[in-house]
Amino acid sequence: MTRQLFLGAYILFPSGHFAGAWRHPYSDRDFVGPGLFHQTAQSLERYLFDLAFIPETVSYGEGFARHGLSNGIKHDPAQLAAQIAAASTHLGVGVTLSTSFNEPYNLARTLQSLDVLSGGRVAWNIIQSQGERNFRNFPHVAELGRTETYDRGDEVVEAVTALWRSWQDDALVADKETGVFADTSRIAAPEYKGRYVEVQGPLNLPPSPQRHPVLLQAGDSPRGREFGARWGEVIFAIERTPEELLAKKRDIQQKAAALGRDPERIRLFAAVQPIIGETTEIAEARRAHLNELVTPQAGLVFFSQFSRLDLSDVDPDESYLKVLDERATEEQRKSRAIAALDDLLGQRRANATIGDAAIAFSQSELTPQIVGTGREVAEQLAGIFASESADGFLITPTHFPGSFDEFGRAVVPHLQDLGVFKRAYEGTTLRGNLGLE
Ligand SMILES: Cc1cc2nc3c(=O)[nH]c(=O)nc-3n(C[C@H](O)[C@H](O)[C@H](O)COP(=O)(O)O)c2cc1C
Repeated sequence: MTRQLFLGAYILFPSGHFAGAWRHPYSDRDFVGPGLFHQTAQSLERYLFDLAFIPETVSYGEGFARHGLSNGIKHDPAQLAAQIAAASTHLGVGVTLSTSFNEPYNLARTLQSLDVLSGGRVAWNIIQSQGERNFRNFPHVAELGRTETYDRGDEVVEAVTALWRSWQDDALVADKETGVFADTSRIAAPEYKGRYVEVQGPLNLPPSPQRHPVLLQAGDSPRGREFGARWGEVIFAIERTPEELLAKKRDIQQKAAALGRDPERIRLFAAVQPIIGETTEIAEARRAHLNELVTPQAGLVFFSQFSRLDLSDVDPDESYLKVLDERATEEQRKSRAIAALDDLLGQRRANATIGDAAIAFSQSELTPQIVGTGREVAEQLAGIFASESADGFLITPTHFPGSFDEFGRAVVPHLQDLGVFKRAYEGTTLRGNLGLE
């Protein structure tokens, strides 16, 4: 069989990479109650998505809440995952949980419990939750530097995976004749002791049909990529071009091979933002319409977060170049956010106001937009996939949850006709569906 691509849905609300998503006329308004998420799970499954991916933040941002930006509200990701898993039978569920603010035992049990209850459909997106704002909510956790958060992360994952191995597959016997429920000779305590974490174990729960959750990772710094190469079975990436994606994938695969892992068992999912129209012109018009849904104030808060520029008192009508001159350090000017925005603005750069520039950035952050009819979007994705730059795509919505339905109806049948996407789920677990068994 020819190589098949994977599909993930980025469960981002009230907005995500597009800062105005909640104001889109087709977006739902109730991002809090359960109905929306049950419905989303069912439509993702109907269109054979492999993964619903749930991000995490452990702090509040005033500007983010006011303007409905990506972290404006956040459910506990494990609770949301449980709702999505309960409303589906094949769909995988990716749960983001931090190695900085959780103890290995809590992590191992929450994730294993979800994995068992979903029949083996859970993945753990391992994050370090960098940023001072997060640490302020955990006063008993010492704030670590970027590299050290990854060092702690390594220990946490070592301890969690050791806890997941506590029970052998056949340890639960439930033999009514003999009265033996669990054969405790097949259950072992890992007794893990590291520099940052310590846990005795064993876990008090047997494993799921996929043995343990699939590990996801999205680090980008050199240390982050090293971490991904050590642990990641699926790597998430946001890169603007297929060439950059391929370079990242090869780098992580080489690092993984150096650690003795099989690099072919690492899947890279690229984030993309499809904008679909009945015709190419309608799709372009829909893309232009997105600008009307972001106010300059919302755009400035959003852009400020990524560029690390303080724009709290800036006049949106000031010249973009003047603001950069006056406020950006040399390092900020070379950042991915500003480089991407420069590129996006192109010739408009010289005359753009900072408000216009921030709105342009807020359309998709750094995520590439794939614009066209269903067929055109399918062909573009199939092209990226054929170049081996990505093994799968993480669909980031412009409106929620309708973006996923549109993609399912308008794009998925063309991907199937092009021979790059399945017509039915093939495995019974997430690891099986991803070919990682
Ligand atoms: C697709 C994707 C999803 C991510 N989800 C989260 C998230 O939910 N929470 C979070 O704190 N960071 C998230 N990140 C950030 C990464 O965990 C990581 O910190 C970032 O890519 C920078 O890498 P570095 O820390 O190695 O510089 C995500 C990154 C990507 C590319």
